[in-house]
This record gives sequence, C-alpha cells and structure tokens, in this order.
Amino acid sequence: MMGFEIIGTGHYVPGKPVTNDDLTRVMDTSDEWIFQRSGIRQRHFAPEGVGASDLGVEASRKAIEMAGIAPEQIDYIVFATMTPDFIFPGPGALLGAKLGLVGVPALDIRQQCCAMVYGLQLIDGLIKSGAAKTILFVGAEAHAGFMPWSDWDALYDVPGHKAVTGEERERANRHRALAVLFGDGAGALVFRATDRDAGLRGVDVHTDGRYADLLHVPGGGFRSRPCWKPNMYEEQAYVPRMDGKELFKFAVTKLPQSAHALLKKHDLSVDQVDWFLAHQANQRINEYIREKLTVPAAKMPMNIDRFGNTSAGTIPILIDEQTRAGNLKKGELNMILALGAGIHWGCALVRW
Ligand code: ACO
Repeated sequence: MMGFEIIGTGHYVPGKPVTNDDLTRVMDTSDEWIFQRSGIRQRHFAPEGVGASDLGVEASRKAIEMAGIAPEQIDYIVFATMTPDFIFPGPGALLGAKLGLVGVPALDIRQQCCAMVYGLQLIDGLIKSGAAKTILFVGAEAHAGFMPWSDWDALYDVPGHKAVTGEERERANRHRALAVLFGDGAGALVFRATDRDAGLRGVDVHTDGRYADLLHVPGGGFRSRPCWKPNMYEEQAYVPRMDGKELFKFAVTKLPQSAHALLKKHDLSVDQVDWFLAHQANQRINEYIREKLTVPAAKMPMNIDRFGNTSAGTIPILIDEQTRAGNLKKGELNMILALGAGIHWGCALVRW
C-alpha cells in the first residue's frame, strides 16, 4: 500500500516580532500575565494587504526548494486557514495562481488549529486513492485582521505616532485575553507518495459542533442580510469570541484521551513514539497533556514563545523547525496532536 513521506518543509512569519511589552502600547496587559498563562513572549502580524495566501507562498517556496522538485511536480494543493484572504474563493486557488500552478486542484480545509490532523488523513487518502502523488500542504493565518486595536503605528512605535486614546484602549481591553494569544505565520509541507515503509499509521479525529460557540467569529457570516452591517464594527463582531477556560479544559481532557485511544488501537505505548508534535495554543495546555501522557519534555518541542498560536500554521511551522534542526528523522514514529475551533480535535501517528 502506498504511503507518504515529507520531502520538503518551510515556514514564514511576517515583519518584526511584536513583544508582550509592545502590546502594552495598545492595551492594558503585561509580559508577566501573558507569559505565565500562555508561555508566549512575542508574535508576528501580517501587514495591511498581506493575506494567508501570501504568507503561504513564502513558506511554500522554501518547502519546494528543500524538496528539490520543480513546482510543476505538485499535483494537489491542500490549504488550511481560519483567516482566508476572502470569504470566497478560498486561498488554495490564490496560492496556486501565485505559484504558477495553473490547473492543479486546490482544496481548502477549515479545521482551524486541528487542520494538520485532518490534513494528514486527507493527504493519506489522496495518495492511496491515486488522486495525487506530490501534495503541497499549507497552513497559514493572518489573524491581524481580527485584532481589537486599530492603531498599528502605536503598536510598532512608529516615530511620531500618537498615544492611543482611552476609548481605543478600552476597545482593545475587551478582547485582551484572546488578542495576546494569536500570531501570524505560515508553514508548508511537501508530501510525496512512497513505497518506503512510511506515512500515516492511524488517526483518531473528532468533531463536536455543540461547542462551536467556545471559539467563533460572530460577524460577517451569511446568516445576516447583508452579511456585514454597520453596527458590527462598533460591536467588534470581527473579533472572535472565546471561552478560554472551557477550551482549556476541553484540550487537557480530550487530547490525552484521544492519544491513549490511538496508541491502544495500534498496540503501542507512549515510549514507542519518538516525537509528540502538538499544536501550540498555550504552553500550559501542552504541559498538562505531556504530564497526563507521561511524555518527557525533550520529546515535545515547543515554539509558542516566539510565534504565539498561529492556528493552522502552527504544526507545519513546528515540523519545519524540527526538520531543519535535524530532529525529525526517517523511520521515526511521531504523534501529531491538536484541538481547534469547531470543536475539532484528535491525533495522528505518522511513520516519518
Ligand atoms: N493581560 C492582563 N490581564 C488580562 C488579560 C491580558 N491580556 N486578559 C485577561 N486578563 C485579566 C482578566 O480581565 C481577568 O481579570 P479579573 O479577574 O480582574 O476579571 C483575569 O485576567 C483572568 O482572566 P481569564 O480570562 O479568566 O484568564 P484565564 O486564567 O482563564 O486565562 C487564557 C485566559 C490564557 C486565554 C486561558 O483561558 C487559555 O489559554 N485558554 C485556552 C485558549 C485556547 O487554547 N484558544 C485556542 C484554541 S485553538 C483554535 O482553534 C484557535
């Protein structure tokens, strides 16, 4: 049976990093609050006019270069984002055009932070069915568009900027628990069919839409006529509403359950897994999961301190960093774990 291997990886983050201290110029917060609760020190934001497809192009070029293939060899694109350039069409088509991949099928998936787990299942299916041989998977986010402040010059301390008004600061403060967690970036992975003993070994995925309210964007959907109303700006309806505490509880109970179920199904123990590549929503969530599974810290790499939560970008970025550091090697058995808005959650076992 045909499997897959990852032959190229790349990532890209826009602009200069925005530190926790930088955020204090637009809202009331502190490095201490943010770092203690989330493990985040800095993040990046896409500038005005730059969308997920643009970030994805940069990451893709690096991944294609590492793969050592001509872009034309890519015969399928899978693009994951929760912050698309447009409501439609999805950024997969835009990315294909920007890479010159005219006519190559592009599929957009929207499992938010859980995109990589669903993506692996999809990629495995595309390869096993013979639909594709070389797949470009991109996870990219431009969360900047939902940030609750509008004075970006103040954020970046552009010379001559004015201090933000009290009203501006108040608008940002309303969503500060959410705003400090997210950052922008893209990761790209090139998957290729192989008859080597590699690829997906198993998946455990779940969705429970009863909890969609725990993290969702209230405005801009097509339940509303028109889909945008003037009061939506005032109400900051473009900013996601998040019940952080409930999501936290969900992640620390469901992800260990899912990991245990998958290992049991394949008659494997935790110590037979080489790397645990977990979504980076919050360092504390991952520490809980690690403790529940009794995984040593060295087996669960983290990069949330530098990027924040890049949603669909996170796991591809992490895989790129770990690949370039020489940590992920052929033949290893690795587990990917993630939970995202929907709620979608689960894990996958991949023979590298
Ligand atoms: N800076 C300073 N103070 C703040 C900030 C901030 N940025 N944000 C909130 N506070 C204050 C609150 O006002 C509150 O003050 P009060 O007690 O005086 O009212 C206090 O800090 C505690 O606020 P909580 O929101 O209760 O903070 P909590 O301890 O729950 O931590 C957090 C919030 C970090 C968001 C946590 O719940 C979390 O990480 N949850 C998981 C979120 C997550 O994983 N989201 C992504 C899901 S995946 C996806 O698909 C995108």
